[in-house]
Amino acid sequence: MRRGFRGALWGCALALLGPACSGGPVAPPTVREVLGEHAFLTPIDAPSTVAATSGGAEFATEPVACGACHIDHLTEWAPSSHALAVHDAQFFAELAKPGQPRWLCLNCHAPTAVQRAERITLDTPFAAVGSTETLAAAVNRDHEPARLGEGIGCAACHVRRDEDGRGTVVGPRGSGRAPHRVRVDAAALAAVCDRCHAPVPDPLAYRVSPSLPCWFTTREELASGPAAGTSCVDCHMPQTQRPVVPGGPVVTLRRHGWAGGGVPKVAAGYASLEARGWRLGVDVSVATDPVVVTLTNTAGHAVPTGDPERFLQVEARYEHEDGKVLASDVLRIGQTWDFGDGTAAHPARRLADDRLQAGSTHAWTPALTPSAEAARLVVEIVHVRVTEANAAALDATSLDLALAALWPEFPSDLQASYPLRSVVYRAAFSVGPGAEKRSTKRAPDR
Ligand code: HEC
Ligand code: HEC
Ligand code: HEC
Ligand code: HEC
Ligand code: HEC
Repeated sequence: MRRGFRGALWGCALALLGPACSGGPVAPPTVREVLGEHAFLTPIDAPSTVAATSGGAEFATEPVACGACHIDHLTEWAPSSHALAVHDAQFFAELAKPGQPRWLCLNCHAPTAVQRAERITLDTPFAAVGSTETLAAAVNRDHEPARLGEGIGCAACHVRRDEDGRGTVVGPRGSGRAPHRVRVDAAALAAVCDRCHAPVPDPLAYRVSPSLPCWFTTREELASGPAAGTSCVDCHMPQTQRPVVPGGPVVTLRRHGWAGGGVPKVAAGYASLEARGWRLGVDVSVATDPVVVTLTNTAGHAVPTGDPERFLQVEARYEHEDGKVLASDVLRIGQTWDFGDGTAAHPARRLADDRLQAGSTHAWTPALTPSAEAARLVVEIVHVRVTEANAAALDATSLDLALAALWPEFPSDLQASYPLRSVVYRAAFSVGPGAEKRSTKRAPDR
């Protein structure tokens, strides 16, 4: 979720959404009055320690502290998009834009209260949330600055406050062997994804500002497709057999890798994609004469889902034996948005939705001129997270030094620091009589 908020928006124009500006002397509208009561509007109240069952010293909740015992979970989480949710130059470039509601972005990207310098509640005056004065007035005394960089850490999903105010780990089963408190609530854990991935019931209608609808429709796509009834966890945290801590009994657990669309946030993330459960969300079949590429959605939701900037680029091409491209055609599978100019007169709107909807099949006949020189037909699918043009524009954004100071390892060159796209499928077929499949690639690469 991104694109510009503009400073001016935080005035009356936005109050279209709430009861402010309706005349008469009224108290300035609060976050609740303007944006509603949704969970993502405030940070998660996860305390910085969890209680020990022995009654002794409490346990720290940083991922490295949890990972001292849960090493497999830490290893899988570390290269995931969750661990790196504030770690890329794109996020910082977006965050640095003037008037950007950083508090709101951070509510999903660095979501626990201890990660946050400011203390914003539903009762905070809405007009003030973008301004530094209120942030100063709303200083969070429990802030632990070093924790911003953990992004969506273990605590975001697992640590909550018990009735006595102390921290507990929310777990799926409760073996009784944990040295820390455990509150068993498998349903709450499985539903935790919705707070950020399905933040409001009507994502296309709900607007944070004219330029920013809350456009994640993954939940709706899933509910209306053939995989309705499966949960995000079923596919994105595949089951595996292993102990919860080294040396413990082997049980059925879930991987913590969230491989998603196969474009890791750092190049080093490619190596672990398959182990983290990556799979392509489409089934591909190719006929060579005439050429027809048939794509069937096997993800429970649209492909791609999530960020509207993502798209799949399907390319079919004839190549000479030496690799020279003789003819090619491209199909773009994604959404097209006009992000507007930040005013209510020209709000963001979706112009087209050419994604592969849940359960659907698309038979594509590329326009390819046959060539006697062609040695093979190559079909390739590239998953694009960010286009080169947008990455270059973000690199050119002037970055806020105060923001960079918050995150010392701040990567300043977006294009160099993170993969923008991955080749997620490639198959080559010999052409002519006796045409046969020559090769298919497996894991995504750059
Ligand atoms: C309601 C929760 C929520 C809020 C608020 C939110 N985001 Fe996100 N953001 C997400 C989720 C979920 C994704 C993952 C979608 C995906 O990967 O397709 C994401 C992805 C992103 C990405 C990565 C996209 C990519 O393809 O690499 C960026 C950058 C980003 N958000 C920036 C922002 C900024 C800037 C703001 C504030 C204006 C913001 N987000 C507010 C939930 C949120
Ligand atoms: C995005 C949310 C999320 C994050 C972040 C997360 N977990 Fe989990 N975790 C879950 C869910 C959901 C389950 C329950 C799966 C199930 O129903 O079996 C789970 C289960 C577990 C379990 C129980 C055994 C198992 O694997 O099923 C352990 C231990 C665990 N997580 C540790 C961690 C640690 C350590 C971290 C940080 C390195 C972490 N988790 C980060 C969502 C998360
Ligand atoms: C000192 C070691 C240690 C630390 C530190 C630790 N755990 Fe655990 N944890 C355990 C053990 C041992 C179990 C039980 C293992 C078993 O059932 O075989 C457990 C169980 C769990 C479970 C499963 C609960 C269930 O429902 O069965 C979750 C989830 C979990 N831990 C998360 C965390 C998180 C999050 C942190 C950091 C805040 C953390 N743990 C820190 C040792 C640790
Ligand atoms: C606290 C907010 C939050 C919660 C809770 C959360 N996510 Fe995410 N998720 C995000 C954000 C933000 C991103 C994008 C990070 C980025 O790319 O910078 C993301 C990215 C993802 C991706 C895309 C990975 C990729 O790179 O393509 C998947 C898949 C995903 N989450 C699944 C889940 C599942 C399943 C759960 C529940 C167990 C969950 N998330 C819980 C915020 C959240
Ligand atoms: C039936 C299995 C399945 C279920 C259920 C499922 N997903 Fe996915 N999801 C996938 C597959 C497969 C992909 C990879 C799609 C691709 O190739 O781009 C994916 C990709 C994603 C991505 C990365 C963007 C993209 O399209 O590549 C996000 C974000 C995501 N899923 C979030 C969720 C959330 C949130 C839920 C629950 C509301 C969920 N998914 C439920 C299978 C599933």
